[in-house]
Amino acid sequence: MKIAIIGAGYVGLTTAVVLAYLNHDVAVVEKDKNKLNLLHEGKSPIHEPGIQGLLEEVQHTIRFTPNVAEVVPEAELILIAVGTPPKKNGEADTQHVEQAAREVAEVCLPDRHYTLVVKSTVPIGTNQRVAKVVASVFSARGIQGNVSVASNPEFLQEGLALQGALYPDRIVVGANSDAAVDTLRRLYKPILEQTFDPPSEFPRPSAYHLPPMMTTDPNSAEMIKYAANTFLALKISFINEIAGLCEKVSADVTEVARGIGLDTRIGNLFLRAGLGWGGSCYPKDTSALLGVAAQSGYEMPITEAARTVNFRQRAHIIEKLRSVLKTLKGKTVGILGLAFKPNTDDVREAPSLDIIRELLAAGATVRAHDPIAIENAQRALSGKDPFANTNLYFTEDIDALAYDADALVLVTEWELYHRLQLRKLAKQMKTPILIDGRNVYSPAEARAAGFHYIGVGRI
Ligand code: UDX
Repeated sequence: MKIAIIGAGYVGLTTAVVLAYLNHDVAVVEKDKNKLNLLHEGKSPIHEPGIQGLLEEVQHTIRFTPNVAEVVPEAELILIAVGTPPKKNGEADTQHVEQAAREVAEVCLPDRHYTLVVKSTVPIGTNQRVAKVVASVFSARGIQGNVSVASNPEFLQEGLALQGALYPDRIVVGANSDAAVDTLRRLYKPILEQTFDPPSEFPRPSAYHLPPMMTTDPNSAEMIKYAANTFLALKISFINEIAGLCEKVSADVTEVARGIGLDTRIGNLFLRAGLGWGGSCYPKDTSALLGVAAQSGYEMPITEAARTVNFRQRAHIIEKLRSVLKTLKGKTVGILGLAFKPNTDDVREAPSLDIIRELLAAGATVRAHDPIAIENAQRALSGKDPFANTNLYFTEDIDALAYDADALVLVTEWELYHRLQLRKLAKQMKTPILIDGRNVYSPAEARAAGFHYIGVGRI
């Protein structure tokens, strides 16, 4: 199938590479010159495990262009995967989605049928608006046009994006037209039936079952995306709230999570207590959902509380540091991990950024380490002024991070932080304090290595 994808961000590029791998003919429209140059050189502008290899493998069925008019007229299916950044009031800004729809409608041929799919996470009702945008462009062009608009929310998890796209739990399609549903069913046939040969880096999981393609109306499909993300966000916030109480009553939240997770009605996933969620989705989507609710005059106290609990986790880490160091002024703190989660260089809404800002404001010196996200964090923390934070240093050397430091804070559970040489690090530090914001270590192990250990919700 000939496909045009608008936007080569995390969602657009992952989808493009996977659809090209499934032998579709894929053209990606990307306007950012830097990204486009990289893509033309065959390099991925995003860090995602396996994407570079797969991109190289599909070179013959994928192409990149800044020009909608070059690829849309010939396409059967057009997929919008542009960003929906938060507006100042928290609502998601859909102007890029609508602009993309406008540009597509400008170049659609009058005598062809197109399926226009919105993959970006958008407020409920956006698909209807997109259909109206398309209709108004057609009327201005004086043509009838034949475009079916459909919602096909994306559930990708950064760091696991390709795995998730090849072996999804489900595919959700929201459409009012049978033609759109049929086109999407043909698009995803190799995934729905698992007829493709798995890429060597992504073998099919042995317990994997064929995924259902759920069809529904567009508004419900849009709501499914927000509801799914909000539910996962509140599951994490719930266990973090329990973790806080565990600290007061000397219980261990990892044991509690294990105990409740064994109940199949609860399930054991997304019950890891710690510094809570960051990233491009949960903070933005919970806030956008509250924006949708506010517009409808509806209160969502559970979603509000999930956000409150999440962001106070960051403040709790600072309080823990204060309680052991007495003052933060003049102290040196090493930060292990800048990315909002492992296996990504994404620092959007990362807990690390708030913690570092708070420490600097309190007069501490901060050294920060991350295997791949240093550059992005540097940019996020310095704003326009590269010399803004004179007490902030970045290092790729964990020994240098620990040397003579007053405390270490483990912020992101990168695999390499699971294998730290604790004994050696403790010896190098001025005071061997480890605040484990992700409960990577068992308190007994860290204490045996010489650390004063403080986790989240643990004894
Ligand atoms: C999420 C959804 O999982 C995905 O389906 C959706 O499309 C986009 O949003 P993502 O933000 O990439 O994906 O990451 P996810 O793995 O869900 O983790 C989000 C945050 O929650 C991370 O900061 C992670 O550290 C945190 N988390 C996750 C916890 O604190 N505890 C957990 O048990 C799980």
